[in-house]
Amino acid sequence: MTHVAPSLLAADKSKLLDEILLVESLGATYLHWDVMDGVFVPNISYQTSDVKAYAHKHHMVNDVHIMVANPMEQAIAFIEAGADNITFHYEACKNDEEVHSIIDKIHSLGVKAGLSIKPKTDVEVCYKFLDKLDLILVMSVEPGLGGQKYIDSATGKIAALRKYIDNHHLKTLIEVDGGINAETGKIAKNAGVDILVAGSYLFGHEDIKERVESLK
Ligand code: DX5
Ligand code: ZN
Repeated sequence: MTHVAPSLLAADKSKLLDEILLVESLGATYLHWDVMDGVFVPNISYQTSDVKAYAHKHHMVNDVHIMVANPMEQAIAFIEAGADNITFHYEACKNDEEVHSIIDKIHSLGVKAGLSIKPKTDVEVCYKFLDKLDLILVMSVEPGLGGQKYIDSATGKIAALRKYIDNHHLKTLIEVDGGINAETGKIAKNAGVDILVAGSYLFGHEDIKERVESLK
């Protein structure tokens, strides 16, 4: 079964705990926190204080996606706030050594490490990190905004990662983020994804229960 990771970017911030408990009751297993710094991406979103306030009020995996220009610093701050997974961007790193040292730092603090690639980044760049990554996040929209359309090239990247991970007997989970709904979720699942992130497809809809079901 596929893990569903509701993205709180689309949740009603005035009743965040209710939104979190609702998706948990519907069977979501990951809770996706989008962190934006106004530098790596133009917008600003969740802060350490938000994660700290809610991380222990549910039992889902606190899946923190940091779209920031200073990943090392922010990874540490969000781990202190209660993250279970930290996913940072390949494009925010100066070189491969920096990618390795952030992964190592996250692991040394007892948290799972994920690496994300933007739509224009070739999937091959992450192969060399896969054996030490817990998760690889394929962005299927340009990071920074919810409610965008799924970019088709993500499907081939997921399929290539699935093949590589299985051929090398790795345990790295594949996550996809952006424009996921029943239709694109199915496409990503057929390509071999493990975790579907969905924001605007889920929150604010009367039939959220059926929508979560459609992604499982
Ligand atoms: C985009 C974020 C996504 C976003 C997905 O930068 O990383 O998690 O919330 O939103 P939807 O599901 O609306 O495309
Ligand atoms: Zn995200």
